[in-house]
Amino acid sequence: MSDVYANNLRRDAKESERLDEQFDLLTEYVCVPSVHTGISVTVPGPYRTGRDEQKKFSSKHANHRPSSIRNIGYLVHPLILDRLPLDHPVVIADLATGTARFLQRISQSGNPRLKSAILHGSDLSPALFPPPNTLPSNIHLSVLDVRAPVPAALQGTYDFVHVRQIAAGLTPDDWVPAMANLATLLKPGGAMQWEECNFTNVVHLRGGDVSVTSVDAARTLGKMFKNGLMHYFRHGWDRLEEGMKTAGLVEVGSEILSSDREPATREALTRNGMQAILGWATANAKSGQLRGDKGQQVTIAEIEELGEQAYRDIQSGCYVRFDIHVAWGFRPHAG
Ligand SMILES: C[S@@+](CC[C@H](N)C(=O)[O-])C[C@H]1O[C@@H](n2cnc3c(N)ncnc32)[C@H](O)[C@@H]1O
Repeated sequence: MSDVYANNLRRDAKESERLDEQFDLLTEYVCVPSVHTGISVTVPGPYRTGRDEQKKFSSKHANHRPSSIRNIGYLVHPLILDRLPLDHPVVIADLATGTARFLQRISQSGNPRLKSAILHGSDLSPALFPPPNTLPSNIHLSVLDVRAPVPAALQGTYDFVHVRQIAAGLTPDDWVPAMANLATLLKPGGAMQWEECNFTNVVHLRGGDVSVTSVDAARTLGKMFKNGLMHYFRHGWDRLEEGMKTAGLVEVGSEILSSDREPATREALTRNGMQAILGWATANAKSGQLRGDKGQQVTIAEIEELGEQAYRDIQSGCYVRFDIHVAWGFRPHAG
């Protein structure tokens, strides 16, 4: 089957870094051991560099409690987490895993239900996989296309199946069959959780004072990206519950969050998104396929100029907003 994703977005070292940062900003999940208590606390994303910075941050936020986890605010929805077995190591699959950030965060979580988890990540392409020697020994990565029938040996073997942000790789007709396909991975009683962003409602907003904040270049580039990928962005986020129900899952639920829920993440998330937008726009301008809102061809020089202004817009207080959809469901117990 074709690699639709490669036509839309790139896979390289810079993109790996961007995806890792985006994952943490959307999840707002970084564990930093508190110097006061020795207990891991969850703190805002950008603070994850050296030990000294961690100490500085931990001491400032020594009273941080899990109740202040923001944006999505969890790796595994509490309804699922509470049901994961405690009597054997949980087996987890993360499809379209990219850089395996989700699995790495699971392995660091310290939650007793996730502690000795067996973590299998897979992706259509291994291009974003970190080198195996940089991964914890309980994470194993392999190549798997979510549109292809799941290998018989994997069927019914997972307690928890997770997918995040595959939209640029699936066409509208792929969603429901892919979800039915992936539901076969679940053990009876096992759970699926899937997160997709609705980029059809992406908008760049004025965050700062009216006299200093500009938004036009960021907004123009955001619209170009949205319109260029609309075929892919239109669906997915709106098919999660339907797909799970069609796949025979029960107790299906969902929630919607706003990407700007946590103000501290706004600027970084906007810069992160702009990097993706400019990568896509530059590649399309190079091949002469980029069109403006009146159908006119857009050149690389125009993209470069818009890009520079867009970063000034962000510096001045412009920030991005879109909806984040999370859905979950359970495979019924046999009988
Ligand atoms: C935006 S990245 C998200 C990666 C990761 N889930 C995250 O949240 O950071 C999308 C990933 O989907 C993968 N992908 C695209 N089409 C796929 C398919 N048909 N089967 C499996 N993976 C696919 C891409 O290779 C890419 O790694």
